[in-house]
Amino acid sequence: MSLIEKIRAKAQANTKTIVLPEGDEPRTVKAAELIRKDNLARPVLIGDPAKVAQVAAEQGADIEGIEIIDPCNSVKYDSYVQALFELRKAKGVTEEDAKKLVSDPMYFGIMMVKLGDADGLVSGAVHTTGDMLRPALQIIKAKPGMSIVSSSFLMECPNKELGEDGLLVYADCVVNPCPNAQELAQIAVSAAETAKVLCGIEEPRVALLSFSTKGSAKHDLVTKVQEATALAHELAPDLLLDGEMQFDAALVPEIGASKAPGSKVAGRANVLIFPDLQAGNIGYKITQRIGGADCFAVLQGLAKPCNDLSRGCSVEDIVNTVAMTAVQAQ
Ligand SMILES: CC(C)(COP(=O)(O)OP(=O)(O)OC[C@H]1O[C@@H](n2cnc3c(N)ncnc32)[C@H](O)[C@@H]1OP(=O)(O)O)[C@@H](O)C(=O)NCCC(=O)NCCS
Repeated sequence: MSLIEKIRAKAQANTKTIVLPEGDEPRTVKAAELIRKDNLARPVLIGDPAKVAQVAAEQGADIEGIEIIDPCNSVKYDSYVQALFELRKAKGVTEEDAKKLVSDPMYFGIMMVKLGDADGLVSGAVHTTGDMLRPALQIIKAKPGMSIVSSSFLMECPNKELGEDGLLVYADCVVNPCPNAQELAQIAVSAAETAKVLCGIEEPRVALLSFSTKGSAKHDLVTKVQEATALAHELAPDLLLDGEMQFDAALVPEIGASKAPGSKVAGRANVLIFPDLQAGNIGYKITQRIGGADCFAVLQGLAKPCNDLSRGCSVEDIVNTVAMTAVQAQ
């Protein structure tokens, strides 16, 4: 079974409600049909019902029975406006601002998740990462005890000797351009949790990557990763986690043994933490394009799951992201 087949099976076992704010976007409408048909989640489309129905007809999508909500005509509109106003008034949001924001499908969807009317949200076929991430960060916020939201890429590599039977989790490749040591430590702990929840990896082995292994080079950038490793140990004392180490020391048993003797992670890491967003984003693309890995992106550390799509996404990408969101919500 491939990773995504396992994730789909998990999603089907405990059906969650996932809101799709881009409810009249053609790929999203088609995806909603497939999500419902395969019982991966209960999809909710946000948009004008007449427009959604027209798009469905054009796509040949059967969306009979799928809930469609028009924000301004929703019975929840007033309560969401009040709730948003209360949540954001200290940040200067007025009641008038809250009315405008809740009319926006993205904010309406985020409020549904915040107030428990949906279990998770998926968007990004039209909107940019920031368009969804900003309201999610402002309203849903990070999990209690966490100050930072980040992302992981689940990398399914053709070489089954790597990581966990070919599975590797990379973080952070999307959100935080320049994490400090404290933030990097939280990214490491969140990525280990993602490895467990979504990849079914029972023993995450987390390597904090650098251009240095165990003090082989001296630089402020290396010191940051060393500090992050110590802080991550404090945050999660039972987690198998080590750093700083180079990519090959993390993955190749002989190199791990020679460069980091005695490490329980070196040479057998299945979760790789990149020191910043440039390294993480470039790293996952190299693994995908040159290494031939399949990759799936998720946000982690939000109090409730919301996930982003790429604007070039396919219907299948939307379906898969909804399945991952549903599993995160379980
Ligand atoms: C995440 C991102 C959208 C935040 O946008 P921003 O306009 O800088 O947001 P702000 O700094 O004004 O913060 C907005 C809110 O989010 C919170 N926030 C920002 N980044 C956060 C993070 N990583 N984790 C948790 N909360 C965060 C802030 O504390 C703030 O909350 P508040 O309004 O309650 O005080 C921005 O960092 C970003 O664009 N990151 C890179 C995304 C990207 O382009 N990736 C590449 C795509 S492949």
